[in-house]
Amino acid sequence: MPIHLLQIAKKLAYDAGKLALKYQQKGFSVYTKGDNPLNLVTDADRACEELIIKTIKSNFPDHSILSEESGAFEGGGEYKWIIDPIDGTSNFAHGLPLFAISIAVIHKGKPIIGVVEVPGLNETFWAQQGKGAFLNNKKIEVSKTGNIASGLFTTGFSYDRKSPRYAKNMSLFDAFYTVSHGVRRIGTAALDLCFVASGRYEGFWEYDLEPWDVAAGKIILEEAGGTVTNMDGSPFNPKLKNVLASNGILHSEMLRIIREHGGDKV
Ligand code: IPD
Ligand code: CA
Ligand code: CA
Repeated sequence: MPIHLLQIAKKLAYDAGKLALKYQQKGFSVYTKGDNPLNLVTDADRACEELIIKTIKSNFPDHSILSEESGAFEGGGEYKWIIDPIDGTSNFAHGLPLFAISIAVIHKGKPIIGVVEVPGLNETFWAQQGKGAFLNNKKIEVSKTGNIASGLFTTGFSYDRKSPRYAKNMSLFDAFYTVSHGVRRIGTAALDLCFVASGRYEGFWEYDLEPWDVAAGKIILEEAGGTVTNMDGSPFNPKLKNVLASNGILHSEMLRIIREHGGDKV
């Protein structure tokens, strides 16, 4: 794997993070996407995405790109970049520091690099296939917690409040909340995955996620020793748009709770 790809991905995420912080300080416009008033996009999302895509296209014209705000670009080569310019746009728009720039590089269909930059926390989570996962310069590993009761969990909800999966997730929230140290909803799936990777949480689940929400966080979590599947326990398939992630040890126990509440079938 060309080492410079990792360096470029990290630099792009860092620069986009700085740009996002600038927007957060100086002010920005907020728009809604489609006919859903909850699904926000800001000037900053667009500017960060432009910065990232421009550099990729000028350095690697044959690389493909899948990015949240501009969609898919087919470059014809072996590499593909999957980008969420700001994961946690609602947090960003409300002035919270909890948002992330998420960049993954895929080679012949296999994720090889993941970078999740959190400029508001000065934290960069990153991983390279087979080389482990890191927070800034420190290697990270998933927690060793072996029982749900001692675990802290996290989930998220999509912008479609009428979806049956929204109601189902409310019942899963309750199911995990009552038997554990708690369940958080921090508003960025990329960071949720990285917080499981670094042992801050034991597990994460969410319905209706898109590839750009998950691609970078997934490789970071797996390189940190965690497990990622669909919510019925089958091997992860981004087309199914649901994710169950854990420290590995608690995966089957999380699955049992999800199944018990019918969360694997919605
Ligand atoms: C959202 C965040 C959030 C999750 C939503 C995502 P966005 O991404 O990851 O945590 O619950 O499902 O859509 O819109 O802020 O890029
Ligand atoms: Ca996102
Ligand atoms: Ca986004």
